[in-house]
Amino acid sequence: MSQTSFESQATSDGTIQIADIPIPEFDESKLVYHQLCQADTFDERKGKPFHVDGTHLAVFRYGNKYYAVDNRCPHMGYPMSEGSVRDGVLICHWHHWEFDLKTGGCFLTFGDDLKAFPVELRDDGYLYVGIDQGEREAAKRRVIDRGKRALIQGLKDSSSFLIAKAIAALTDAGADPKEIIQQGLYYGTNKTGDGWSSGVTILTIAANMWDDVDPKDHNLFLVHALTQIGRRTSGSSRRQRFPFPRSKEKHDLKTLKRWFRHYVDLRDRGAAERILITLHDRGYSREIIADFVFTAATDFYFTGDGHALDFANKTFEGLDYVDWEGAHEILRPIVIDLVTRTRHEETSRWADSIPILEDIFLRLDRIWELNQSNQVSLDISEFAQTMLGDSFEPIVAEIEEKLCQGVSPTDICRAMTYASAIRTVRFHLKNEGDWHDVANIYSYAHSLYRAFHLAPSKELMRGLFHGAVFLTYLRWLNMPAARIPKPEQCLDETFSSPEKMLDRLQEFADFQKVFDAEILVNQYINEGHDITQLKHTIAHIMLREDAELHMFQVLEVAFRHFDLSTNAEEKRIHLLAATRYITAQKLMKGILWSTENAERLQRGELLSEREDDN
Ligand code: FES
Repeated sequence: MSQTSFESQATSDGTIQIADIPIPEFDESKLVYHQLCQADTFDERKGKPFHVDGTHLAVFRYGNKYYAVDNRCPHMGYPMSEGSVRDGVLICHWHHWEFDLKTGGCFLTFGDDLKAFPVELRDDGYLYVGIDQGEREAAKRRVIDRGKRALIQGLKDSSSFLIAKAIAALTDAGADPKEIIQQGLYYGTNKTGDGWSSGVTILTIAANMWDDVDPKDHNLFLVHALTQIGRRTSGSSRRQRFPFPRSKEKHDLKTLKRWFRHYVDLRDRGAAERILITLHDRGYSREIIADFVFTAATDFYFTGDGHALDFANKTFEGLDYVDWEGAHEILRPIVIDLVTRTRHEETSRWADSIPILEDIFLRLDRIWELNQSNQVSLDISEFAQTMLGDSFEPIVAEIEEKLCQGVSPTDICRAMTYASAIRTVRFHLKNEGDWHDVANIYSYAHSLYRAFHLAPSKELMRGLFHGAVFLTYLRWLNMPAARIPKPEQCLDETFSSPEKMLDRLQEFADFQKVFDAEILVNQYINEGHDITQLKHTIAHIMLREDAELHMFQVLEVAFRHFDLSTNAEEKRIHLLAATRYITAQKLMKGILWSTENAERLQRGELLSEREDDN
């Protein structure tokens, strides 16, 4: 009769189900015995760690017999060789999970079992452990399954450390990062009553920037994103929504788009969500779905300080990354951003600009028609200076004129992104509380650039004017303007190697020597050193802190536009913007420590051996 055990399983939608898991038969014929050590070197009930053929073991002598188990506690990886044995029960000293020493069976109802291995004491006085030929693969499967369950639990408990443990176990077992990102995106969008949140945004940025960060920091990046997702979700699924019933009668897209905009305008989340998932259900392209969302995001003035458009862009980047798997749920949160966030026509700050923009928007059809039938290039740097003017009226007039001449909207977006980078490097430290404003326009301008690539439209052009006005509202943040290092400026200090420069950069960041850090980055660029290493270091400086959403956004935009530009000064300013923004924030290092501890445990090291002074 085959035996079964009941085991909790995480399904792709992030819920936990109870499933029958067959208990594999013990098969002596597949075992290969490896010599361990002389048997008389053991103390009664005291464990010893071994690493044999890729397998971590904890071996015990108990009652004159010998027992071997996996050295990593299935709970959180504590070394079982440090545990103690009482009455045949092996106890992990961290959270006191208890296991049958002989079989590895866990006494905790939902605890995972510990893998046990047969041990033989042979005539030569040595111990031999039997390891299945397929143990490596089996161990990998155990760790991946356990890691996925632990990840769901970490997200539910909103625990950085549980999440870090799960990530360390999953990556150590060779799990595909794409699978982890997909699980996080699905969980983060399905288990929230809020809009597209900072967690899923950071996770999408992690996917986008995978090659921009040192592989050593990949786990840390994922832990940041998933920790934010844990904090932004409740663990319970949203109310279900379904597409309209299928029928012989078909709606035309014009009607659906009109309805979508109407219900967003009425802040009717349910109706708008239903139209969006109906579009997806009927197989309309990503460009059409994106056009609906981008149009609704720009129907109002700078919705949510630009976050609605920004998150809309991240929604589509995330969907593309997971090949639109689970799109039905991933699409829904953006509707909440469209219906709940501040519309700036409802605020007094924008009262002076709205009549001017409304007048321009009456001419949208003509502007779009001229734009599409002409083609003129734009000097990005020069137009960025125009956009940094104090008064929005001449700026929006200039944008209209450029569009009519046939300047590509994406070039205007690039100029706006560059102007935002200049706003950031000129941001004076005494404005401390307003950092998010410069991050918002920097990220918004980049999102608009991306949106024009995906679904260009005359409606989306309104976003250019919204962004331009907001940029002028931020001019006060550059008064007084912070100094920007001169292009040739260097530190009064010599370095024996580029690596030493990057070490110094991290020290400057530790002590928030913002201007010194900028000059050093300047010097590094001037001396022509490897930019990949510089990017890794700037990213690491951010990832080792408990960074919040805006820091991730700034980093991504700075790196992307550094890559996009061929102009040395623009490139320099984008990297200085990232350096300034990231080194100026005062933060803690909780997520770094959780991830480092999890990785140490995964390697079978003791936390008590940690040397914090190093
Ligand atoms: S009980 Fe072993 S790590 Fe928690």
